[in-house]
Amino acid sequence: MKLLRYGSWLGAIVLTIALAGCSGDDGSPGRDGIDGTAGTDGADGADGTDGTGASASRDLPTLQGHIPMFPEDNFHGNGVTGMDDDRVLPYDVQAAFNNDTFFWRVSYRGNEGKRHEYIRYTNGAWQREGGDRRDAQATLDGDVQQGDQTINSTIYEQRTTIMVNDPNAATNVTEFGKFGCFLTCHNYSRHMPEWTAANGHDGKYVIPGDTTGAASGDIVLDLWHWRGARSNPIGRADDQNILALDFIANDGNGGDTGGRKGDSGTSVFTSQGFDPVAGPDFLLNPDTTSGKFAFTWDNFWETPFYYMVRDDALQSGPLSPNPGTIALADAVALGYAPTEGDTVPRRILRGGAGSRADITATGTTFTPLTPDSSYGVWNVQMQRAMDTGNPDDIAMVPGQTYEAGFEVHLWEYTTRDHYVSFPVTVSVGPNASADIQAVSVAGAGPQQGPNWDEIPMTRLDLFQPGITTWEFLTGENENLNKAYTNAQGQLVGQAHSGSGAVNSGTACSGCHNVLTSDPVAPPIFDAGPMEDLTERRGGIWEDTPVVTP
Ligand code: HEC
Repeated sequence: MKLLRYGSWLGAIVLTIALAGCSGDDGSPGRDGIDGTAGTDGADGADGTDGTGASASRDLPTLQGHIPMFPEDNFHGNGVTGMDDDRVLPYDVQAAFNNDTFFWRVSYRGNEGKRHEYIRYTNGAWQREGGDRRDAQATLDGDVQQGDQTINSTIYEQRTTIMVNDPNAATNVTEFGKFGCFLTCHNYSRHMPEWTAANGHDGKYVIPGDTTGAASGDIVLDLWHWRGARSNPIGRADDQNILALDFIANDGNGGDTGGRKGDSGTSVFTSQGFDPVAGPDFLLNPDTTSGKFAFTWDNFWETPFYYMVRDDALQSGPLSPNPGTIALADAVALGYAPTEGDTVPRRILRGGAGSRADITATGTTFTPLTPDSSYGVWNVQMQRAMDTGNPDDIAMVPGQTYEAGFEVHLWEYTTRDHYVSFPVTVSVGPNASADIQAVSVAGAGPQQGPNWDEIPMTRLDLFQPGITTWEFLTGENENLNKAYTNAQGQLVGQAHSGSGAVNSGTACSGCHNVLTSDPVAPPIFDAGPMEDLTERRGGIWEDTPVVTP
């Protein structure tokens, strides 16, 4: 019904088809932000260049408002991503498969982001550094509704994830191919305006009514989750999934009842505890660090000991042998006593087991573009068995076509502040109508991958979704007369002009593009590019809007 708002709907279609023809012609020049470096796999080992001392002038990580850790580096807004003041993140996707293994390779520019959370001894006590937060500004403001107030610094790992839907499976997200990740994003999702700590840790989920065949609690999406700190140093990624969930009925009073879950088995990282007086449960094992139990906070950017691993991962990954762990009591028995600035990782990497540990990240590289490696080009690779046989994985079957959404977290931001793609189709083998075609290559196993120079690359333009929730997009918020107030004190209404069309099944890309030249999603009705529109609603690199009373 709301489609009637567009008096000249047909005219718009004609106009935009004409425009699409033009933009297709001149679309490629200037979109080359990261293509040039795509073949630079030979730069392996760049990730380990810490210790050059080149970054000595960088500030230690402290809260900097909405600016990431290094204001002098002027990350986003300075074209690091190669596009439009970094509101858009060009993201190149390649895919291949051999007899039994599926391979992804994704490339983009960003900060290095290989550090995560730490435990630091300062002023006579151990404290935590880094961690997830709603937004940095909220933490500075001391807004208790806006997340953890104990965060002392803004360190957070860099990540990229791939959400996969199998439209042919008995259980799947019915319109994922049209709306993608937006189907998982809700008013009560973590760090959205209506979220409070009582809503639990992690709110990503799909409403059962938006699925085919799923009841609350069923797995509906596969999630390939590469983590710059919590998996990559040992050459791994995290294997997770998304549930259909009746969130409000299930949650109500807190706890982690969100729908993003780890697959069965054991993850490739864990957290350690600490006592402010006694210290962390584990320190660096001096046998693996030339005698160090901890690194010093002043050496934050240079130390090679920014991560540590359990014994079962000492030999894993491109940086091995890796720094190991020693229990606090054993360290004390060897004479350890803390000195000001002693710092150890809060997260500990490990081999993992079962379905959760299915994905390797062999061949992943970071190629610095600055001497201090504060930013550069990531080429992230992930490998997994085509069919793991695990019920919490979506098997990639030759001849089938899947729907995928891609995501990146950069700039030490955590939850909502990420880049997302519109959904695309991915075929396993030839399918001329698929956005991305995974290419068949000879061999078997994760070691016999493709020569990436021969695999076509699909450019996606990722954007920040801000506070754009499914309830907003479908008009539910408008019907409930909801409104929010943004950081400038202005009302952010909850009316989405496209809600009627969304409800009747028109894809986001039917009316929106990302850049006007976006080749992936030419609009049939031009309602504007996402990077302009989402920003209007607030919550992108600024305070989270609050619910208007
Ligand atoms: C039928 C076309 C149509 C579809 C389909 C559609 N939209 Fe829109 N959308 C619009 C129009 C029209 C506007 C208003 C644009 C303006 O005000 O300039 C809009 C506005 C927006 C805004 C900005 C809202 C604001 O407060 O200014 C966002 C964000 C948005 N859409 C996201 C989406 C997403 C995500 C999808 C897919 C789930 C989607 N839209 C599907 C037509 C559509």
